Amino acid sequence: MTCWLCVLSLQLLLLPAAPPPAGGCPARCECTAQTRAVACPRRRLTAVPDGIPAETRLLELSRNRIRCLNPGDLAALPLLEELDLSENVIAHVEPGAFANLPRLRVLRLRGNLLKLIPPGVFTRLDNLTLLDLSENKLVILLDYTFQDLRSLRRLEVGDNHLVFISRRAFAGLLALEELTLERCNLTALSGESLGHLRGLGALRLRHLAIAALEDQNFRRLPGLLHLEIDNWPLLEEVAAGSLQGLNLTSLSVTHTNITAVPAAALRHQAHLTCLNLSHNPISTVPRGSFRDLVRLRELHLAGALLAVVEPQAFLGLRQIRLLNLSNNLLSTLEESTFHSVNTLETLRVDGNPLACDCRLLWIVQRRKTLNFDGRLPACATPAEVRGDALRNLPDSVLFEYFVCRKPKIRERRLQRVTAAAGDDVRFQCRAEGEPAPTVAWVTPGRRE
Ligand SMILES: *[C@@H]1O[C@H](CO)[C@@H](O)[C@H](O)[C@H]1NC(C)=O
Ligand SMILES: *[C@@H]1O[C@H](CO)[C@@H](O)[C@H](O)[C@H]1NC(C)=O
Ligand SMILES: *[C@@H]1O[C@H](CO)[C@@H](O)[C@H](O)[C@H]1NC(C)=O
Ligand SMILES: *[C@@H]1O[C@H](CO)[C@@H](O)[C@H](O)[C@H]1NC(C)=O
Ligand SMILES: *[C@@H]1O[C@H](CO)[C@@H](O)[C@H](O)[C@H]1NC(C)=O
Ligand SMILES: *[C@@H]1O[C@H](CO)[C@@H](O)[C@H](O)[C@H]1NC(C)=O
Repeated sequence: MTCWLCVLSLQLLLLPAAPPPAGGCPARCECTAQTRAVACPRRRLTAVPDGIPAETRLLELSRNRIRCLNPGDLAALPLLEELDLSENVIAHVEPGAFANLPRLRVLRLRGNLLKLIPPGVFTRLDNLTLLDLSENKLVILLDYTFQDLRSLRRLEVGDNHLVFISRRAFAGLLALEELTLERCNLTALSGESLGHLRGLGALRLRHLAIAALEDQNFRRLPGLLHLEIDNWPLLEEVAAGSLQGLNLTSLSVTHTNITAVPAAALRHQAHLTCLNLSHNPISTVPRGSFRDLVRLRELHLAGALLAVVEPQAFLGLRQIRLLNLSNNLLSTLEESTFHSVNTLETLRVDGNPLACDCRLLWIVQRRKTLNFDGRLPACATPAEVRGDALRNLPDSVLFEYFVCRKPKIRERRLQRVTAAAGDDVRFQCRAEGEPAPTVAWVTPGRRE
């Protein structure tokens, strides 16, 4: 019995090797006949192996030690559709290396040592839709590098040392839908180079040391719907004209050093539905900051330094559904900041030192229907309800804390003060109310 089992397992082991796949399979590779796939990852290969079947469609050569690609290396594989050369040590690709691959759709060269791509490397790759060049050592993208890639939809060039993108580097990329530029040493964007990307729908610009957005940057990208600017520590301002020419549906400017809502730049973005300005050192939302964003549904301003949201700050936002102001310094959020609170479905105001008084009554009244995204806002003051979630407050408390008393000036009387020109003067004013009123002085002519 034992012996019989033994024989059986031996036969099973031998089975795959017994009928050799048509066309053979290179040593150290695994070939799958049905999918025409050849996989040789992590095999310490120093070159494209010999003997790859001519009908191969998928070739996986990642994590080897290939240094160089020459014309001829892949010439006998005209049916190749996907080629993965990620994480090798390729420093050179000769022009013509991909010349005989008319069906290639996916080419991955991520994680190699490419410093420069000479013109002619990507010629005749008419069917290529994805090209991944991220995590290389590219310093410059030359004119016409991608000239023939008329079907390319996605290009990844992040994590390089790019210092310069030549004006015509993107010429010919008429079908490109998405471009991600991240973690490189660019100090400026060229509107002219981006202007070649007529079909671009999404542009992601992350971890860049660019200090300014210029008027012409995005001028010739009429089809761009999604723009993301993330982790630009040197950016201090989004100038009024910098979004000129764009008609965006989503915009994200996050983790930068901007201190003000870019109200002027946002004007004319009437089709914007989602705006993310989180994680910027913005302290105030002035009245009318988003006035023209009539279709905006989501506004995120989380993790900023917001202490004041002025009355009518959200004027014009007739369709706002989601407002995310979590983790700021707000003590209140008045109903008068909104165009109308009736459209609001989701509200995040957790992580703020909220004063539970009548100004938050509108939230408390809607506490059973508003969606707090699982993060319940809580009172920081008064002491009696500190730490209590707004949503769980019993109705009885409402009449105790969420009532207001109109501000009143106590001891209204004439005060005579004599002072020399240029000296400071002090007047007294006692006022009472719930919440505690702020006092401002005006001159008799109301000029100040
Ligand atoms: C490119 O792909 C399309 C379909 O995806 C195919 O019909 C065409 O033959 C391919 N071109 C070449 C040169 O193989
Ligand atoms: C790019 O920036 C990194 C980090 O600051 C630096 O180490 C590298 O030398 C720079 N590369 C070039 C080509 O300037
Ligand atoms: C951000 O701006 C402040 C001044 O507004 C400046 O002190 C700081 O250095 C800036 N941070 C960076 C990373 O440039
Ligand atoms: C802006 O885009 C919207 C669709 O998102 C479109 O309906 C509208 O016509 C565009 N406006 C302009 C001026 O191109
Ligand atoms: C807004 O941006 C921050 C920072 O990049 C990100 O973590 C967050 O997911 C974004 N929110 C949305 C809704 O995209
Ligand atoms: C609110 O913003 C925070 C911080 O960016 C994010 O983690 C969270 O997902 C956002 N919430 C919603 C509902 O978008």
